[in-house]
Amino acid sequence: MSRFSRRTDFDPTPNAWTRARAAHPARHDLTLSNPTRAALPYDAAAIARALADPAALTYAPHPFGLPAARAAVAAALDVDPARVVLTASTSEAYGWLFKLLCDAGDDVLAPAPSYPLFDHLAAFEGVALRSYRLRYTGAWEVDAATLTPGRRTRAALIVNPNNPTGNYLHATDLASLRALDLPLICDEVFAPFALSAPDADRVPTLAHATTGLAFVLGGLSKWAGLPQMKLGWIVVAGAPARVAQALERLELIADTYLSVSAPVQHAAAALLGGPTQPAIAARVRANLAALRAAVAGTAIEVPRVEGGWYALLRLPAVRDDEAWALRFLREAGVLVQPGWFYDLEGGPYVVVSLLPPEGDFAAGVEALLGCV
Ligand SMILES: Cc1ncc(COP(=O)(O)O)c(C=O)c1O
Repeated sequence: MSRFSRRTDFDPTPNAWTRARAAHPARHDLTLSNPTRAALPYDAAAIARALADPAALTYAPHPFGLPAARAAVAAALDVDPARVVLTASTSEAYGWLFKLLCDAGDDVLAPAPSYPLFDHLAAFEGVALRSYRLRYTGAWEVDAATLTPGRRTRAALIVNPNNPTGNYLHATDLASLRALDLPLICDEVFAPFALSAPDADRVPTLAHATTGLAFVLGGLSKWAGLPQMKLGWIVVAGAPARVAQALERLELIADTYLSVSAPVQHAAAALLGGPTQPAIAARVRANLAALRAAVAGTAIEVPRVEGGWYALLRLPAVRDDEAWALRFLREAGVLVQPGWFYDLEGGPYVVVSLLPPEGDFAAGVEALLGCV
């Protein structure tokens, strides 16, 4: 008999939502978040050329990544390359940081609503999540009263801008988080995709922090719409002595895995550029504008969104968010995500991706509006 770990003990039974999806193929997919299937421009020749660099035939392991690749990431983010650690993905970066900061049984503060993968990323490292809430008051903000670390809390997670609420971190939020005196893990994968003009107290990045300890995460997955290339990064920022200590320990973790492939590192400078990031930025802006125009005068509210690839629809409270999502699917063939996937409260909410091609997005929104 095999015994498996409790950390992999997730219930595999498909829930009502997954069963309904299987039974009703969608005609309009408003959950599309795979950029490589979103009719975006890629410079295929430049990507192929960069990946074919013969330098990749030599294995030259560096725990934090090849110096040229770290320099390319550092230049894109305007930080010191010595503070850049390459990983295969942002997801892997979370795993390394939980190993760095937590022992089994420790916990980390995590925003709610936010990215659902945190449950698995933490559980696989033997770490628990302790939620703090974001609340909507015309803008999404950290509810400071819910920032309640325990004896074993080792870090606080931030997603800037957040998925799916689209709010950037603001100075008041940062002050509440800093007051905890915990390392901050700040996921900035959506940072290049601003959807509103910056207000005075927006904190666009923690990559330049000079006090405390912060780990800023990003990757090609969203930066250049290239999730299949498997290149992510951690920028370590904060008080120099704490940064140095963190890097020393991270180096051992990184050296144990050496998980970033040579071809993608040699191609990094080319992959960070190209036409795809501006095209995604234009796409999400156009779709958000179209969404706002389409819902004007209807019973649907689109809460303020400042950045990222998603928007929320707040619906009339005549049914819950899953019932709304099922209604859209069954009656109009429109696939959206119910808000509970992201731990949204105060709805009902559904979440739509702003990434689909403009025509598909508009058709999906129109079909959805027919059921409200
Ligand atoms: C907030 C957030 N972080 C990280 C990721 C995944 O990034 P990666 O592909 O680098 O693991 C996603 C993917 O949707 C995301 O929404």
